[in-house]
Amino acid sequence: MSAVLAQLDHVDTRRRDTSRQLDPARKAALGQFMTPANTARFMADMFTSTTGRTVRLLDAGAGVGSLTSAFLDRCLAGPCAMVEVGAWEVDHAMREGLASTMADYKEVAAAAGRRLDAQVYAEDFIEGATRGLFAGSRCGFTHAILNPPYKKISTSSEHRLLLRRVGIETVNLYAAFVAVALDMLAPNGELVAILPRSFCNGPYYLPFRDYVFSRAALRAMHLFERRNRAFKEEGVLQENVIIHLVRGAKQSDVRVTTSSDDTFSDLVEASYSFDTIVKPDDAQRFIHIPTGGLQSAVEASTVARQTLAALGLTVSTGPVVDFRMREHLCKMPEPGSVPLLYPAHFVGVRTSWPLQGFKKFNAIDLNDETARWLYPADRYVVVRRFSSKEERRRVVASIVEQDDFNSTYIGFENHLNVFHTGRRGLREDVAYGLAAWLNSTAVDEHFRRFNGHTQVNATDLRQMPYPPLPVLEKLGAWYIKHTAAEQQEIDRKIEGVL
Ligand SMILES: C[S@@+](CC[C@H](N)C(=O)[O-])C[C@H]1O[C@@H](n2cnc3c(N)ncnc32)[C@H](O)[C@@H]1O
Repeated sequence: MSAVLAQLDHVDTRRRDTSRQLDPARKAALGQFMTPANTARFMADMFTSTTGRTVRLLDAGAGVGSLTSAFLDRCLAGPCAMVEVGAWEVDHAMREGLASTMADYKEVAAAAGRRLDAQVYAEDFIEGATRGLFAGSRCGFTHAILNPPYKKISTSSEHRLLLRRVGIETVNLYAAFVAVALDMLAPNGELVAILPRSFCNGPYYLPFRDYVFSRAALRAMHLFERRNRAFKEEGVLQENVIIHLVRGAKQSDVRVTTSSDDTFSDLVEASYSFDTIVKPDDAQRFIHIPTGGLQSAVEASTVARQTLAALGLTVSTGPVVDFRMREHLCKMPEPGSVPLLYPAHFVGVRTSWPLQGFKKFNAIDLNDETARWLYPADRYVVVRRFSSKEERRRVVASIVEQDDFNSTYIGFENHLNVFHTGRRGLREDVAYGLAAWLNSTAVDEHFRRFNGHTQVNATDLRQMPYPPLPVLEKLGAWYIKHTAAEQQEIDRKIEGVL
């Protein structure tokens, strides 16, 4: 029995050729962004072991078989009597490539005296696998390697109903693929998957995080630090992570690696306790990925230990959803209307209102229908929910002052988060202290550790630690006089606090 000739480079050429021929609409609909060879190899190397009497590999959404190929190159180079592959792929063009990949492996495996059996399932993985899971069949895989399709699952879709039957609640196909694959693994079976980072935080993925952590131990994570690098040939702009899970294993330390891109030339590796990754007291079970050091400056601080609730503060999403209230909105303030604030109304720390020639609206009618969506005119801190991909900061805080408007009420549009105290405003020093805190580099860096996308939601802001009130007040007293402070000045001030 001799080692099988590595085939991945050959399969990588097939990947490129197939990718060029894909219909762009179908490619987007099926999330056909295939894994380049370097990343595939890195993923295959993450498995603790690929030996055993019979190795059974699952590849769901297999494309032309790049991941399977990387796995087989590693597995067949070592001692292994029998390898079985179960690969699911819905797309005909991909399946042709996959069939060729499997045929090549069978040939070289046979020439080396190895037994390789491959089943290609020409069906929707969620449909086929959940049917199988329900009937208790098609399980017992020792390994799973996935780059699943990224696609939202709508609430009423067939996928959603099928997944619910096997106890899986999730909002995106990629998480569904991981959840189902995990259930198809034998005890101690290993799963390696490359995924968008979005499952690491946010309320929508909480059931998925719970599902994973109740079934498997997280052994390792890899983060591509530059968001456009993992699938650079495809122009995919999102942060990607690779996870390594072991079904039913006891959770121990987690190996975290980072690299800026798929050359892995600047790979950094460290080991962290699971409590550093998922905080024991965090009901949301956010997954923090520590980069550059054991803890963020905010986490390491003994001062920033307060929850927002302990400070008597709340943060909510701006309640005015403009397209639902269109008939009450005014381009410019009119008698009987009150200010309506969008992110565009904030320039630096303060507001600029009304905006001439603004595409959206500057005001909202005050009437019985709108009153419950409005806040009493007062002092608030707001943080934009969306920043553009290339912006330097994710968390950007500004202050709304009652004095800026001659009004009884203020409307906050849905693209803003509003800090308030029971729907009333904040004291001046607290508001400014909070804004300075949120505008610091330390907070922005801390935020990026658990949030991979550009959205800043109220839940994320509720999750963060804050300094106690006396510290906020002191910071506020300084920031009131220095609202035009440069980033470095704010950071120096915050360093003093931390
Ligand atoms: C992100 S690509 C990854 C392909 C391959 N695993 C790789 O890494 O190169 C996802 C693949 O899943 C396939 N796919 C999409 N939806 C699927 C489904 N419901 N069931 C099975 N395959 C699916 C797509 O056609 C595509 O080939």
